[in-house]
Amino acid sequence: MKYDATHVSEAEEFPVTMTLELSEKCNLRCPFCHLSVFEPEKPNQISLEQFEEHFAPAMARIKSLTLHYKFEPLTCRDFVPIFRRISEFDIETYFSTNGILLTEKARDVIVGNLTYLTVSVTGFTPESYKKQMGYDGLEKVRKNLRALNALKKERGTRYPILRISTVGKLDALDELKSAVDFADEFDAEEGVQLTFFRAMDESMESERPVHDPEFFTATTNEALAYAESRKVKLFLQSGDLEANRKETEELGHKYCRIPWNGMTIQPDGDVFPCPVAHTSVGNAYEQPIEEIWSGERLAHFRDRVNNPDDMNEECRTCHHCRVGSVVRTETTDLSYKDSFLRLKRKDENVRRAG
Ligand SMILES: C[S@@+](CC[C@H](N)C(=O)[O-])C[C@H]1O[C@@H](n2cnc3c(N)ncnc32)[C@H](O)[C@@H]1O
Ligand code: SF4
Ligand code: SF4
Repeated sequence: MKYDATHVSEAEEFPVTMTLELSEKCNLRCPFCHLSVFEPEKPNQISLEQFEEHFAPAMARIKSLTLHYKFEPLTCRDFVPIFRRISEFDIETYFSTNGILLTEKARDVIVGNLTYLTVSVTGFTPESYKKQMGYDGLEKVRKNLRALNALKKERGTRYPILRISTVGKLDALDELKSAVDFADEFDAEEGVQLTFFRAMDESMESERPVHDPEFFTATTNEALAYAESRKVKLFLQSGDLEANRKETEELGHKYCRIPWNGMTIQPDGDVFPCPVAHTSVGNAYEQPIEEIWSGERLAHFRDRVNNPDDMNEECRTCHHCRVGSVVRTETTDLSYKDSFLRLKRKDENVRRAG
């Protein structure tokens, strides 16, 4: 779509969606993840008191809330009481987890209350899971999902609606049909999502689908047919490579309206126009959310989202899973970047020790 200046003024009155990252920690270090290569300056998390004072009032006005982006929401110390409070509001809620910390207390508070839950699994045998996720945890995830489903059945609810997410790196694609079987086994209504793989350093570079588009296309087509035969949904985040190339040709990303619809807030209160942006537009602990939403800093950012002649740096190289161009190196190979998603690249010594 061509740049059209009329779009820049069409913001909602208040954010419709909010991404509120509860914690900046993770219990795992999946080798493919940004966390194995980048780190936050300080891993903050939201307390129940902070949630109550700064975010609870907004819950009555938004329509949907996401509780993760780049870390593990279940590592938040106050996850259970915060989520219990969120459940008092009539909003759609969602988060993604590795599923290891889906404890009895967490299951108790989310079953019947959380709308969507994504469980991320790459590697569907104990050995391949350990290789991909860096931890021997597949049996634990299976056990937690069995317990979650048993509680859903006991409470007579379909919530949380489950989805299995698996990373679209070339060396994991041969297990895509196993991902479909896994989703089927655990009644994942939303089936399987294959994520848009981004290489975090040189060691992962060769696993980008652009290096073997024929294999990517053949394997995903076969898995799509298999999923259809099993009546399981299979969604490719990037779309097929050719369609993605066409859709992103002009801007480098798909036409994006995210900063007109919602905002992203980190545990230190910093507010961003979208999960990817590193340009802070205010702080929710220092300023009311509505003021930040209608403020000049966000307006200036919006003005440069879809404008090819004057584009925000983060939009130009957008890595957002649903928006970026699969075929451009700038959006899928991050090995040249010193920072990513507001995280700093660890120095070599820290990486070797960690
Ligand atoms: C960063 S995690 C955060 C939430 C939670 N910890 C989890 O794993 O679901 C969000 C999603 O990003 C995916 N992911 C991690 N590293 C990736 C990469 N390099 N390329 C594509 N997807 C990736 C994960 O598999 C997960 O589904
Ligand atoms: S993908 Fe999720 S579980 Fe794995 S290290 Fe990253 S944040 Fe943690
Ligand atoms: S960085 Fe990506 S997701 Fe964020 S506003 Fe720009 S294009 Fe949209």
